[in-house]
Amino acid sequence: MDHEEVESIACSNIALTKYWGKSHLGINAPATPSLSLTLEGLNSLTTVKQHSIDQFQLNGESIRSSGISDIRFAIEAIDSSLNFPPICVSSANNFPTSAGLASSASGFAALVTALNHAFNWNLSPTELSGLARRGSASAARSMFGGFVSLTGPDYLARQIAPPEHWNLQVVIAITSRDAKKISSTEGMQLSAKTSPYYANWVESAQDDFDQAVQAVERKDFQSLAEASERSCLKMHAVMQTTQPALIYWNAATMSAMHTIAKMRDSGTPVFFTIDAGPQVKAVCEPSAVASVEAELKSIPGVLETRTVGLGQGARIVD
Ligand code: PMV
Repeated sequence: MDHEEVESIACSNIALTKYWGKSHLGINAPATPSLSLTLEGLNSLTTVKQHSIDQFQLNGESIRSSGISDIRFAIEAIDSSLNFPPICVSSANNFPTSAGLASSASGFAALVTALNHAFNWNLSPTELSGLARRGSASAARSMFGGFVSLTGPDYLARQIAPPEHWNLQVVIAITSRDAKKISSTEGMQLSAKTSPYYANWVESAQDDFDQAVQAVERKDFQSLAEASERSCLKMHAVMQTTQPALIYWNAATMSAMHTIAKMRDSGTPVFFTIDAGPQVKAVCEPSAVASVEAELKSIPGVLETRTVGLGQGARIVD
């Protein structure tokens, strides 16, 4: 690549049916199949250039370089021909980092996309999803736009449908801008060891995933809402029964869940999903966006809302 810079962009994603737990820790393989939406406008913009030593800057601040060593180690372990010289990586997110909005997903997807281009690896997005997964399993899904699956036996991501298939919108209620205190990987390991519900969660995840995929294919909002909320609540039941308990919700998170449930009961096409953080993502049809935004904004503790549609997969910026 010499000394020129390569720039890439990737969008964050949210899982509708969730991944929580690893089946093979060494290769960062998820224990449950997941289905996600890639979110337009929640981006990581990443530049890579050759440098004298590995250097990593996140949102303008230098971070310990082992972030790059970890991914270098993982990538070279998959294929020793994918080695690369010391690099300087600079990545910026246009949304809160490490607060349950999947900044690691967009970050790692953008990074492997830039590396692939910079060092002429010529890997496909599916192959790159396997590299991105080593950094953060949800990052595999950010390689693609629209509706994306991440399943065994190969633990690679695939597009189920492009963004144009179904114009779903996501109203995100930000209820805290604090970074999370415990990483997902650590939380998942604790859950697997200590939650009495963990085995049942893993065993029942395939049914939720299958229902959600079918619902996407048929554009059946009600069925997607049921499978997604069920998966989300089961994951949080596992989190909350982990020792020590992983309680990501705050009062505004709960109020938002009640508000969304009430709206759907009275016929508004909306459902909620929540990840390892306190933000609530309300997935809705375009006709419901204005009322969902208004209702969520009126909840005490909701700091702001942000509405996004479905985005494209990771790509190089010319
Ligand atoms: O990929 P990680 O390690 O950031 O874990 C993501 C886990 C959840 O966001 C809670 C669920 C999911 O499937 O994205």
